[in-house]
Amino acid sequence: MCGIVGYIGARAATPIVLHGLKQLEYRGYDSAGMAILDTDGNLQIRREEGKLANLERLVDAEPVNGSVAIGHTRWATHGPPSQRNAHPHRSPDGNIVVVQNGIVENFLELRNRLQGQGYEFASDTDTEVIVHLIHQHYHNGSNADLTLAVRRAVGELQGPSAIVVFDKAHPDRLIAARLGNAGGVVVGYGDDEMYIASDIPAILQHTRRVAFMENRQMAVITQQGAQFMDIEGQPLTLKEMEIDWDAESAEKGDFEHYMQKEIYEQGRSLTDTLRGRLNFAQNRIELDTLNLKPDVAQALEKVTIVACGTSYFAGLVGKFFIEQLARVSVEVDYASEYRYRQPLVSARQMVVAITQSGETVDTLAALEEARNGGAFTAAIVNAIGSQAARVCDGHIYMHAGPEIGVASTKAFTASLVDLLLLAIYLGQERGTLPAAEAAHLLHELSRLPGLAGELLEDARSGHLYQQLAERFHIYHNFLYLGRGINYPIALEGALKLKEISYIHAEGYPAGEMKHGPIALIDEEMPTVVVALKDRVYDKMISQVEQVKARKGLVLAVANADDQYIQSKADFIMPVPAVHEMISPILAVMPLQILAYEMACRRGEDVDQPRNLAKSVTVE
Ligand code: M6R
Repeated sequence: MCGIVGYIGARAATPIVLHGLKQLEYRGYDSAGMAILDTDGNLQIRREEGKLANLERLVDAEPVNGSVAIGHTRWATHGPPSQRNAHPHRSPDGNIVVVQNGIVENFLELRNRLQGQGYEFASDTDTEVIVHLIHQHYHNGSNADLTLAVRRAVGELQGPSAIVVFDKAHPDRLIAARLGNAGGVVVGYGDDEMYIASDIPAILQHTRRVAFMENRQMAVITQQGAQFMDIEGQPLTLKEMEIDWDAESAEKGDFEHYMQKEIYEQGRSLTDTLRGRLNFAQNRIELDTLNLKPDVAQALEKVTIVACGTSYFAGLVGKFFIEQLARVSVEVDYASEYRYRQPLVSARQMVVAITQSGETVDTLAALEEARNGGAFTAAIVNAIGSQAARVCDGHIYMHAGPEIGVASTKAFTASLVDLLLLAIYLGQERGTLPAAEAAHLLHELSRLPGLAGELLEDARSGHLYQQLAERFHIYHNFLYLGRGINYPIALEGALKLKEISYIHAEGYPAGEMKHGPIALIDEEMPTVVVALKDRVYDKMISQVEQVKARKGLVLAVANADDQYIQSKADFIMPVPAVHEMISPILAVMPLQILAYEMACRRGEDVDQPRNLAKSVTVE
């Protein structure tokens, strides 16, 4: 969950590493630190507890210049957030420094052994074990060969880890290693300079030419390039890729928060998701990278969707899409549950992982379970080149661009679009979707970015959501209700509210309200309903009546032209009337904006909510 950045070149490394860490702060913000080889050849460390801003202040007060540096932003696992636990950690002689993302599962055993051998620990972290191990191997049996020492040290580690090592005695290189699913490790190629980072946004300002390191790989990175090898020392060639994201896509621009920017750019991101995929000449969907052969699609007996958090809720909408259009049964499972319940997997099954980051450890483990069982595996994934995209038989990119805000927004709507594309594709391959209906859906999808743009533009230029936040930010509990295809939207709306404004919110399928949650309704507990003019509209109206009868306040996501609901609900958040299959993609947007404005009104840290990290690469 932590973020790593490294630079080696001729330019000033400090601003490059600090800017890179800023782009990675979504991965953890318990502390931040960096190690720089200064122009006099001294290894300087700057570390601070808390957010990157604290480190930036320290670096301002105690500046340091040099052209090789490594940096880290931490999400605490071993040891509380504090300066002493901030990375980089160093060897006893102070020469070797290490930053790590991941967990050393056998850290206690290694720590006890090293302590028995005289090593003193200056932190509570598992990372310090790594740097001491490297130091030990460097001085015992590796003939001062740093690469060999790192290889031997890494060979002793259990659990997922990505590390970057710098040694004062080898100022011309950084050494990186990746073990297991520790989150990404991307090597960036510059002009006589090189970068290493946990994720692309950290280096996007400098280069788009990258290579991704896999499990059990190492790299020796110098100013001129990178040499790759496996952990056993066998040389490797890694494929270089050109990333098509522009540098601005990872910047906040004029917006106050990344989340705000990511909400309001959904008109554009949805255009990118759809680009090249709607073939109007043949009324078909183009999904080349899915790699699903027609006979495999036709023979499918079951689709399983695995995901976590917001991506899981997207999967619940996907179940509607795929079952309706492709007439194949779909189960949706939390990846963290699926991986441990010995799932029944068969060769006539397709397991689809949904993951923005492509690095969520539970989702990757669920995919492995599916692969071992012989299923066809596919990932709906945003992060280009991420682990999920690489380990699956096929993938569908979200093309939402970098999502930095911890609360997922544009990746959610992009994954809904990808799921709908997949459902149409499967429906056509399986012969369950009539041509006219497919053509209609393609047409509706083509209207989506424009409609989203208008909805968002209206919201941004008006004051509705600020007024709602003004009125409702003082409440402690909310109930979110939806039904049918929009029931998962209620779940997602509730998650958005709780994760950034820390208000308790529960999402429920509306029909279940009378089986329990109705007991909670009173004037202290507002209810947010998604009540669009679809096949469950009347039922949703009757839920609204039931809440009103118990003195509850109702905020409704409703069609802009729906006069009737205006007389029933207390407040309306309007969305345009569209095809039912498209409706969840628009219906979630008011709930994203509401959550955002509520969090702002409460003065919370929208982009970095407490205790959360964007990429959950540890269990
Ligand atoms: O990167 P992933 O889509 O695999 O992440 C899954 C969840 O961790 C993520 O959706 C999380 O729930 C977000 N904080 C939601 O806003």
